[in-house]
Amino acid sequence: MNQQCAVYPGSFDPPTNGHLDILLRATQLFPKVIVAVTDNQNKNPSFTLEERLTMLRTTTSKMHNIKVDSFSGLLVDYVQQSRASVIIRGLRAVSDFEYEFQMALMNRRLNRSVITVFLMPDESYTYLSSSVVREVARHGGSLRGLVHPSVEKKLKKLYRIPSHPIG
Ligand code: COA
Repeated sequence: MNQQCAVYPGSFDPPTNGHLDILLRATQLFPKVIVAVTDNQNKNPSFTLEERLTMLRTTTSKMHNIKVDSFSGLLVDYVQQSRASVIIRGLRAVSDFEYEFQMALMNRRLNRSVITVFLMPDESYTYLSSSVVREVARHGGSLRGLVHPSVEKKLKKLYRIPSHPIG
């Protein structure tokens, strides 16, 4: 397996600046990073897989050595098929730890040659999540600085919020 290639998996429903922060840090460590969007319907995503892929492609267009892809099934199988060896996950707060620890150990059990690397985003993003972003957007709040402008546009369309409020 290729120690030079890392996979950054997630739902990205939608991608936030916190995700982009982690991705940027990952590109400083690995020559190639694959952003892998899960097509798992269990989370009942607000955006289709195609929409999430498009948002990620747009927001990462200026970043180098990044591929945006989707996967189904086990993450470790996708990592192996991609000839990668590393999974990148973001740790925002202690509350993330238990879930991430469980997932990393299960992934290790499933495939011992896959290594999980945790990165911390800038502290200004520690409270950020896709569902918080959706909640703010649904009620017409500002998302400036929290998501890429193209993602904010998509959210406004999803919740039918006018781009320039009247008055
Ligand atoms: N900035 C902002 N938000 C972040 C973030 C960051 N740096 N890192 C994580 N999050 C948020 C996400 O927005 C998401 O928020 P939400 O719950 O409000 O939507 C939440 O943290 C967790 O989402 P995500 O990082 O996308 O992970 P996930 O739990 O949705 O998906 C997979 C995790 C896809 C990696 C996992 O489900 C998986 O591997 N699935 C395949 C099956 C498998 O192999 N399972 C593993 C066996 S243990």
